[in-house]
Amino acid sequence: MKKQTYVVHDHHDERHQGAATFPIYQNSLFTFANYDDFDAASSHFFDHFVYSRGNNPTVQQLEKRLAGLEGGEEARCFASGMAAISAAVMSVVKQGDHIVCVDQAYGPARVMMGTYLQKFGVACSFVDGTSIDAVAAAIRPNTSLLYLESPTSLVFCLQDLEACVELARQAGATTIIDNTWATPFFQNPLKYGVDLVVHSISKYIGGHSDITGGAIVGSHEKLERLNQNEFMLIGGIMTPHTATLVSRGLRTLPLRLERHHKNGVKIAEFLQTLPFVRKVNHPGLSSHPQHELAVRQMEGFSSLFSFETDIPLHEMRTWAGNLEYFRIGVSWGGYESLVTVHNLKQEIDSIAATSQSIVLVRLYIGLEDLEDLILDIRHAFERIGVTIVD
Ligand SMILES: Cc1ncc(COP(=O)(O)O)c(C=O)c1O
Repeated sequence: MKKQTYVVHDHHDERHQGAATFPIYQNSLFTFANYDDFDAASSHFFDHFVYSRGNNPTVQQLEKRLAGLEGGEEARCFASGMAAISAAVMSVVKQGDHIVCVDQAYGPARVMMGTYLQKFGVACSFVDGTSIDAVAAAIRPNTSLLYLESPTSLVFCLQDLEACVELARQAGATTIIDNTWATPFFQNPLKYGVDLVVHSISKYIGGHSDITGGAIVGSHEKLERLNQNEFMLIGGIMTPHTATLVSRGLRTLPLRLERHHKNGVKIAEFLQTLPFVRKVNHPGLSSHPQHELAVRQMEGFSSLFSFETDIPLHEMRTWAGNLEYFRIGVSWGGYESLVTVHNLKQEIDSIAATSQSIVLVRLYIGLEDLEDLILDIRHAFERIGVTIVD
């Protein structure tokens, strides 16, 4: 079965009167008619429905589907992407360990690994993930985790997943990747040997800007340990209601991604032609320094990318406010186009070390009409006095 069929092919379970969509099990606990059944279920807690902090049928439906899409044995859903990332990282490291993390990974994930975990005696080094030599050089005898995010979500750099996995294996370290940008449709890191895949479901998978959620996908062995500990003890679970909304979003994910891919590339190409745009950071463009790796590792490109410009920061902030269809806002992956303006020097350690000041605009291309979006970008430039000559 192809992935497109897999996401829309719901089982019509006769227990639910053949209901076309899976019901919402809006209950915290499950009851038993006798103590033998209760004991049997409780002793194999994760194979049964006992309490919704462990298993809930509506959430489990989604977990099975996500595992299938990523090519993993199991998945667990969480209340947010950060809950999933934190649980995944904590399932791997212990006191005295060292993490190697790519230096452009999602900010709060970097803070969690680089600062928060210090109080448990875990150290972290940040490396330029585009250089496999830099990754190799950062690995220490006590490195237990290599944390990847490919592509990263501000400057859209990739890591060579096969090469990273090889290095981690030699060092006896586990690999985790944040696969939010590519989604399970455009990249399946488990097939390159990555151990755990994490997602912020709040983005493309949810797809409607109406939920926050996260997931971890991996082998039965890795998820079994995590179930007993970080999942069950920290308890940052996804609610059944959220799982229903996510399952609904998932059905149209391939369809939405088709448009995101197409319109994202078209707008990136358009921006590339503008004389005041220094650089467009989109792995789908042949001008991207890692385009060849991107095509090898991924089957498509989503629609979050950035461009760097010579126009000063304060003018670009006015430009962003002039846009009609792009709203100013964090996050991405919903139906609506978004924009944020950044001073890269303040956000990326390796750039902060240089004297360059780089104005970077991150665009998220939603589901609006392509021509409307391009016109919107042009008009917003005209309103700050920048004319685009065809
Ligand atoms: C790449 C990436 N990973 C993880 C997260 C965290 O996800 P959440 O906001 O669902 O906790 C985000 C959120 O913006 C993100 O951009």
